[in-house]
Amino acid sequence: MEEPTASSVVPPPPGAARRVVLGVTGGIAAYKAVELCRRLVDAGLHVVPVLTEDATRFVGEVTFSALASEPVRRSLWHEPDPIPHTRLGQTADLVVVAPATARFLGTYAAGISDGLLTATVLATRAPVVVCPAMHTEMWEHPAVQDNLAVLRRRGVHVVEPAEGRLAGGDRGAGRLAEPAVIAEVVLGLLQRHPTPQDLTGRRVVVSAGGTREPIDPVRFITNRSSGKQGYALAEAAAARGASVVLVTTVQRPVPPGVHEVVAVDTAAAMEAAVLGQAATADVVVMAAAVADFRPVQVAPRKLSKSDGPPQLVLEPTVDILAELGRRRRRGQVLVGFAAETHQVETRAAAKLRSKGVDLMVVNDVSAPAAGFEHDTNAVVVLGADGSRREVPLTSKRQVADAVLDSVVDRLPAGAAGGPARDQQPRSRS
Ligand code: C5P
Repeated sequence: MEEPTASSVVPPPPGAARRVVLGVTGGIAAYKAVELCRRLVDAGLHVVPVLTEDATRFVGEVTFSALASEPVRRSLWHEPDPIPHTRLGQTADLVVVAPATARFLGTYAAGISDGLLTATVLATRAPVVVCPAMHTEMWEHPAVQDNLAVLRRRGVHVVEPAEGRLAGGDRGAGRLAEPAVIAEVVLGLLQRHPTPQDLTGRRVVVSAGGTREPIDPVRFITNRSSGKQGYALAEAAAARGASVVLVTTVQRPVPPGVHEVVAVDTAAAMEAAVLGQAATADVVVMAAAVADFRPVQVAPRKLSKSDGPPQLVLEPTVDILAELGRRRRRGQVLVGFAAETHQVETRAAAKLRSKGVDLMVVNDVSAPAAGFEHDTNAVVVLGADGSRREVPLTSKRQVADAVLDSVVDRLPAGAAGGPARDQQPRSRS
């Protein structure tokens, strides 16, 4: 048989519905893929269901064939099309696999094409979303987590499983994410795809969450930061093609496409992680709420109430952002956040100058539905060049994209980051 070429693939006509391959593998959660299928079709997508042989033991082909835009496909060999293994992947706008079993993740990570679905994900250049579902023990097994880390590094989007009741009646992590959540991820990716890939080849470091400064082994000083804005920035940067390192104090599902997550707790740990990562970064966004002060001494044992109120003596932490400003690499773009309650822009503008950054994102945290813990935010982006951009109340993801638009405007044109840039001399001011 003659090998197909890229040009032999007939593109869908202009204006046609976006094509989504819905891969279903053999797990008990396969029944939830039926609802996902319905939601995607209802959203106006052209859904092509691909079931593994094992999946057909859990759900009937007829159900999917009735709901989807095309009949179920499940084999490399029983198709009228002689080359379904490449055609499906090449013509897809997105591939989503839900549920994705440990076996599927393993074969995909290893690059083994052992059936129509693995062949499809290996033959596509479209975004791939995998939604793992399995028992907690399997989900937590290092082999599974390593395979996921490999897939993430390659840009695969992972919708992490939730905690809840599992097959067999026990509870734990590993339950397939809700179809509504998966559909939202799929629709969001399609909306942004083709996203401007204006951060391709750039290394972006994002910090998120509030630091915790210990008083004794059980108590600490912290703040109300939820980390949501930082996570939205990491996700947006990854969607725009960046290689993203997220330095975080909070535990939230890893945003799709993020390459590396560094967990930290104190300002000192964040300082070490961020300064280390920043040495090779094109962009650093300090969305974290870093403590300005920490207890000078951490009691080795739990302080006792009977000893009376402790006299806490505090000392300043290192201002990481100001230190980044001093160590800035040539062409590196630095972004800070200023969470203020009064004299908002005046105070933020002063920080912009004193810390030596390019952009300061100003957050009036006393405004309704903006700032800490909310899913929405309203900010003003101040530039060191005197620019001022207002982003009215919107989702934190939209705020993230607006901030990144300003970042992209300031990145030097030409070769993106990577090894060559990393070897450039670092300039200090
Ligand atoms: O001075 P202030 O804490 O308001 O500045 C906020 C900005 O500075 C944020 O971007 C925050 O991440 C950063 N910061 C820092 N190190 C500190 C305190 C704040 O990098 N110790």
